[in-house]
Amino acid sequence: MHTACESELLQLITTYDEKDFEYLRKCARDTADRIFGNKIYIRGLIEFSSICKNDCYYCGLRRSNGNAVRYRLSKDEILSCCQNGHELGFRTFVLQGGEDGFFTDDVMCGIVSEIKNRFPDCAVTLSLGERSYESYQRLFDSGADRYLLRHETADKKHYSMLHPPEMSLENRMQCLYNLKRIGYQTGAGFMVGSPFQTPEMLVKDLKFIEKLSPEMCGIGPFVPHKDTKFKNENHGDVSLVLMLLSIIRLLKPNILLPATTALGTVDPLGREKGILHGANVVMPNLSPVKHRKDYSLYDNKICTGDETAQCIGCLADRMKKIGFEIVTDRGDYTEK
Ligand code: 5AD
Repeated sequence: MHTACESELLQLITTYDEKDFEYLRKCARDTADRIFGNKIYIRGLIEFSSICKNDCYYCGLRRSNGNAVRYRLSKDEILSCCQNGHELGFRTFVLQGGEDGFFTDDVMCGIVSEIKNRFPDCAVTLSLGERSYESYQRLFDSGADRYLLRHETADKKHYSMLHPPEMSLENRMQCLYNLKRIGYQTGAGFMVGSPFQTPEMLVKDLKFIEKLSPEMCGIGPFVPHKDTKFKNENHGDVSLVLMLLSIIRLLKPNILLPATTALGTVDPLGREKGILHGANVVMPNLSPVKHRKDYSLYDNKICTGDETAQCIGCLADRMKKIGFEIVTDRGDYTEK
């Protein structure tokens, strides 16, 4: 792994021109090609609960949003999403939900172990927010392989401008270190262009990624949601997201890096561009169509109308058009 100098990163982020942008893209893509070839990993995203006890100022699912439609999938519904996904070639299921107290360790461990029993060739990724060390350990022992928990911003003051006082960056980061220590393939990540963000803060995000050295990193543009106080803010800049994807690929060559749905939401070719700038993962939605529009983190989220079979077909075509191939593989992190 390379270590980057903060002042150079800052200079790059604040002064890059088209030549720098293309040079970074080429280096990042060459690096990804060397490690993954033209193969793109797919993750089946199951958004199993839109109920959340948190009140993050940017998120449409924040608890104080009275307009949000709340739903919770049953264990059987989650399992049938997995069944459907397995038939379509998915070998990773990402269970993502708000911090919903219904999903205690007992409930969640029961779901994870049943998925691992029925689909032993699959990886389970959890994205359930902040929990105790013991809870993460129990979930890991029940068979979970990976965990996604974006740090959102690595700047303490910025964190407090995006979250209510009961949440802290310190706890967020401690959770990430705990996950790594337990043995999860761990994903951190941040929003690009969130309100009050400065280039210096993005440098902190990159330095945190270097320090934590996560196996995965989710970055996408901030997108405003109509029922939040940030409703009139602009969405994050697409080229800045792309450049950060390239930088992260170069800092951590083997990292699993998704071209996110948020990137595809602010630019119709966002996911393709993400791949061409160094990403190597896409995460189609496996949630039941009837609930998709209610997992509303931000406005105008794409792929809320189609069945997964259509989504995967559409993505496979899109990837093929730019010379890439979606593969049926767990797609674990390796150092090879
Ligand atoms: N814009 C972009 N991303 C968002 N997320 C939540 N709200 C928004 C928004 N308004 C992201 C957060 C969270 C992930 C599940 O979705 O980074 O970690």
